[in-house]
Amino acid sequence: MNKKLLIAFAFIPYFGHAHGDTTWAEHIAPILYNNCTSCHHPGGLAPFSLMEYTDAYNYKQSIYVSTQSKKMPPWPPDANYSKFAHERVLTAQQISAIKDWVADGAPQGDILKAPKQPTYSGVGFLHNADLTLTIPTYSVKSSTDEYRNFAIPSGLLAANYISQMEVLPGNSGIVHHVLVFQDSTNTSSQQDAADSDPGYYNFGGSSSLKLIGAWVPGSLPLILPNGTGVRLPKGSTIVLQIHYPKGSQGDKDSTIVRFKLTTQQMRDVTINSDLYHIAPSLQNGPLFIPANTVKKFTERQYVPVDITIMALAPHMHLLGKDIKVYAVLPTKDTLPLINIPDWDFHWQGMYYFKKAIKLPKGTYLWAEATYDNTINNPRNPNSPPANVGLGEATTDEMMLVYITRMFYKTGDENILIDSSWNTAVPNLNTQKLMGVSVYPNPANDGLTLELSQAGSYQLDMYDVAGNRVWTEQVLGERKSEIQVSQLAAGVYFYRVQGKDGAAYGQFVKE
Ligand code: HEC
Repeated sequence: MNKKLLIAFAFIPYFGHAHGDTTWAEHIAPILYNNCTSCHHPGGLAPFSLMEYTDAYNYKQSIYVSTQSKKMPPWPPDANYSKFAHERVLTAQQISAIKDWVADGAPQGDILKAPKQPTYSGVGFLHNADLTLTIPTYSVKSSTDEYRNFAIPSGLLAANYISQMEVLPGNSGIVHHVLVFQDSTNTSSQQDAADSDPGYYNFGGSSSLKLIGAWVPGSLPLILPNGTGVRLPKGSTIVLQIHYPKGSQGDKDSTIVRFKLTTQQMRDVTINSDLYHIAPSLQNGPLFIPANTVKKFTERQYVPVDITIMALAPHMHLLGKDIKVYAVLPTKDTLPLINIPDWDFHWQGMYYFKKAIKLPKGTYLWAEATYDNTINNPRNPNSPPANVGLGEATTDEMMLVYITRMFYKTGDENILIDSSWNTAVPNLNTQKLMGVSVYPNPANDGLTLELSQAGSYQLDMYDVAGNRVWTEQVLGERKSEIQVSQLAAGVYFYRVQGKDGAAYGQFVKE
């Protein structure tokens, strides 16, 4: 039996400070493994690894500074304004634990108490994909930031619905972000063919491209709620827009996207730029920012039927400074959706809410954004500043808010997006899939998870609010015993993802 202490993942409280109390093994490693090493591992996107004690020790001062300032982990939305699934934000306790640890001289502590190191194999989760597309191996050309589109024919002979999607960066050291589009015209294929290298240059996207997803380092696969899917028209082309940051020149990449598809009719999930940079949405157009000015723009969209929204993705270019999106409900209440106080084109993503949100008919969506076209904006592409208007080039601007939504159906507001893995599948039947049994249930201190045979799998546990409270990769075991005594009483979900399938279920902590 594989017995583990449930060491300090999200739910272990950090107790008050006394000198020498805070050690890497007990307090800091769990924070780093859960929030940092998805990028800070050998071969990862970040410039150095934080996997070992010596790494953390060597970078202790800058770890302290970057967590105090909340620069790390990178998470552009204001976490006080609205809540998102898979949020990458340290708690006040975690930030002060790091401070105490550094103040104490960054001791290692008892190495036996350190949690198991996470592994980053790059093999991902969706091992039973229906469609896997790979970009041709591309050797990065540009000596500055490069945005490259790769058009890959899906080869689909009929329309399908995407229920799950995962991006696997080919070279996780240089793939900074990936936007996934669908093109049902042949525009992107022609542009790709016209360029002698794999892919073609593109910065912002173009009109025939429809966004279907976004990936940033550390993203989990997109798993849509049960019975819903994003429609992929017959014969459509998948376009991956990849950002290779400055310094990647000469490095090679071959990124993969995998889809779980169905030809069954599903509830249509659409991703649409509902708030957009021309009239009637743009209230004070045209989107034009004269040189040496700071300008604010407002957009509005009326919601004519009840809808359910699951995610959103604001999009601006390099002059964008901040953007805020909210809904004004028919009751006149304001519902905050997202606030990005320091917009950075290099860290954009599709943000999923923890729970789906109903917007009743009669709601107005609003977006407010500021653009800084002065020398005070370090990202200004023009020096000296030049007039900038609407367009697709690096030097043009955009103001879009993509919204992932569907027509409302009773009960949608109960959809937990963080744990749609669990709600997506009726519990009891799928438990048989991998023959997982979980006992005792209700559990009090030790919970045993037993598979019908030994295997390697990823185990994740979530609370009802969709917060992940436990994650680990189990290699070649049949049984895992998890100490749950420190969980608050209530219902929890687990998900076991192996290479042959997944099992989902729930248990009760007494
Ligand atoms: C999503 C990827 C990602 C995650 C997660 C992440 N980092 Fe980073 N980190 C980077 C990148 C990329 C850089 C290089 C500088 C940059 O691009 O901003 C960096 C730079 C740093 C630096 C150098 C100093 C600085 O501020 O630039 C420190 C220290 C650091 N990270 C610590 C952390 C810690 C501690 C965590 C977790 C609490 C963390 N990082 C989580 C990607 C990440």
